[in-house]
Amino acid sequence: MSRLIVVSNRVTPPSAAGEESVGGLAMALAAALREYSGLWFGWSGKTTPEFTGQLAMQKIDGVTVATVDLEDADVDEYYNGYANKTLWPLFHYRQDLTAYDRAYGEGYERVNSRFAETLRPLIEPDDLVWIHDYHLIPLARELRQLGVKNRIGFFLHVPWPAYQLITTLPGHKQLVQAMFDYDLVGFQTAEYQQAFEEYVQNEASGEQTSPGLWKAYGRTVQVGAYPIGIDAADFAKLVRSSRAVRMNDLMRACTVFRRLIVGVDRLDYSKGLEERFMGFERLLADSPDIRREVLMLQIAPVSREGVEAYQEIRARLDALSGRINGEFADIDWAPFRYVNKNYRRDELAGIYRAASVGLVTPLRDGMNLVAKEFVAAQDPEDPGVLILSRFAGAARQLTEALLVNPNSPEELAEALKRALAMERPERIRRWSALFDNVQREDVTAWRDAFVADLSEMGAQATALASGRMAS
Ligand code: F6P
Repeated sequence: MSRLIVVSNRVTPPSAAGEESVGGLAMALAAALREYSGLWFGWSGKTTPEFTGQLAMQKIDGVTVATVDLEDADVDEYYNGYANKTLWPLFHYRQDLTAYDRAYGEGYERVNSRFAETLRPLIEPDDLVWIHDYHLIPLARELRQLGVKNRIGFFLHVPWPAYQLITTLPGHKQLVQAMFDYDLVGFQTAEYQQAFEEYVQNEASGEQTSPGLWKAYGRTVQVGAYPIGIDAADFAKLVRSSRAVRMNDLMRACTVFRRLIVGVDRLDYSKGLEERFMGFERLLADSPDIRREVLMLQIAPVSREGVEAYQEIRARLDALSGRINGEFADIDWAPFRYVNKNYRRDELAGIYRAASVGLVTPLRDGMNLVAKEFVAAQDPEDPGVLILSRFAGAARQLTEALLVNPNSPEELAEALKRALAMERPERIRRWSALFDNVQREDVTAWRDAFVADLSEMGAQATALASGRMAS
């Protein structure tokens, strides 16, 4: 078996995985690497006055973790800049928030080239290299320029935007062209894959030579949809952990005679939090009879605080949550709890299990693993109901959730009413189908499908090459 090298902007050592909370990528990668004794490379999250390429290496649970520090300017221009002020909003359909700045583009290229130079000496001839997410699209191109011939795969955790949208990005051609330095490019859903293919066909005069195999810019890349999952078996263990049980007891004690509605998201404008709050407000306004029977808990740890759009949404949510409680609370009761604290995954498991309704309503989301964790945490005899945005990648798999348009407070309020009134047999029927999917299409299935395709292509290439040599 080839060694697997995983590269992502953020690296969370596998041993810390039980403690990680929101932000599915790191968790999923920790789980994916566990069986591979591979190498995980990325940014340490720290800065240094001058980039040296000095690696911090540690071996944790059989996985070698190698991280590198970046300069302040790198963090400004690459992470806060091109990754989170340009690509993130654009890929989440927020053209209004998308900033185009030459310095950001330069920072993005510089950090990708620095990552390539630092990673290059760690790569051995048989390694499979698997690069993750929008921060690192040009990394394969940089590695190829340094002579790396290994099979390199790329997986995009966020949506790939519609053709009309991606073409608004100055430099879109170079970005897509860089994707042709990979052997395999994976998307979360068939819809994102199709949007990419539409671009290649229309903008790059690409040609599909066999299903998913695209030729453009003088190169060929295989593309496919690989929906990411959670480590369902591990999550089932977490639900039974003492921390989870304690949290579950605590939440039940806080909601005696009341039903818990829960949302857990990074504080990000793509998560539809304002719209969700307004949906809850509408429910309270329209249904005086159930007002005192519900408590909504929204956990939203702050994130990307160096980006203005995140500071602004935080201020708006503070005001909105205050308005809802101001309007509907009574001396002995408040309908809404809004918490910006980070919780461990085992604690979240306990909170999910205590909830009657899970509200996962992003305006756009590559997949959304909170939806899957909510399902995995439920009591099979008395499960809660998942309300899920139709614009989350997870909606393609979790079709038995109550699917909603997150832009409509009325639709959200209706779905909440329906979920709160749903009888146990229907809840069990829906949950069983959801749980079946979460278990079957878990993180191991995701990793194995991607890695198998990446290595398979290598085997085919070797067979072809030796066939050529023999003839
Ligand atoms: O899934 C998208 C993503 O950007 C991941 O790459 C990342 O781990 C997660 O969201 C959290 O974002 P950040 O690393 O910027 O805190």
